[in-house]
Amino acid sequence: MMPNASRQVVLDEVKLERYRAILASTAIFRGCSAAAIDDLAHRLQVRTRPAETIIVAQDEPGDSMFVIAAGRVKVALFGENGRELTLSELKPGDFFGEMSLLDNRPRSANVVAIDDATLLVLTREAFVAHLKGHPQTAINLLSEMTRRLRRADETIANLALHDVESRLVRTLERLAKEDGEQTDGGLLLRKRPTQQDLANMVGSCRETISRTFTSMIKRGLLVPRGRALVLTRALLDRRAAVPA
Ligand code: CMP
Repeated sequence: MMPNASRQVVLDEVKLERYRAILASTAIFRGCSAAAIDDLAHRLQVRTRPAETIIVAQDEPGDSMFVIAAGRVKVALFGENGRELTLSELKPGDFFGEMSLLDNRPRSANVVAIDDATLLVLTREAFVAHLKGHPQTAINLLSEMTRRLRRADETIANLALHDVESRLVRTLERLAKEDGEQTDGGLLLRKRPTQQDLANMVGSCRETISRTFTSMIKRGLLVPRGRALVLTRALLDRRAAVPA
């Protein structure tokens, strides 16, 4: 039988190989050499968080960033009366926590585990040292932060310029494009989020979303199909006629 110390070495190597694979498949580390990925893999820590727990709390100090190895998380702002605005949903391979790490200011938002999550944690020291030696990572990071700023601009415009029905349609259309398919009846969203989740995404409350849904179903603009939902051609044509 293998002695304990040798078994531990093998286990550590299996884990390291897994971390390397996750880091190598992460968009910000695209283009990094195997040596650079190996160096990062040796510097990270692994943390697990159960579903529905807060991983990063808004306004708290932070000096580490996270790469998601497993599970989904959401970036959210909490308002008074228990209201929540979901800014983004992140999946394995995505990262968060880079803002406090880069500007030394408190966390800009809450990050909450949707599923049980496994996270690879990099300290400021490790990430900044890596950035200094790898300009491609800095470019990848800027590119992703730019994409997030564009999305945030869209969210601001949505909240300021559109009513709840229009915001709901835009959100459903975006979700259906990410996880759906074109059918004869229209665009099929495979897994409709709960009305509370939709309310959080569009900056409204569950009751208003419920009323809006009922009205749109009655008008034949949305057709529920079990957990799925069809955004009809009539709805999409009407939406296409409205400027973004
Ligand atoms: P940080 O401010 O350190 O902690 C909260 C994290 O949420 C933040 O870093 C980003 O990684 C992430 N975050 C904040 N705002 C957005 C946004 N609008 N879209 C996506 N992610 C965000």
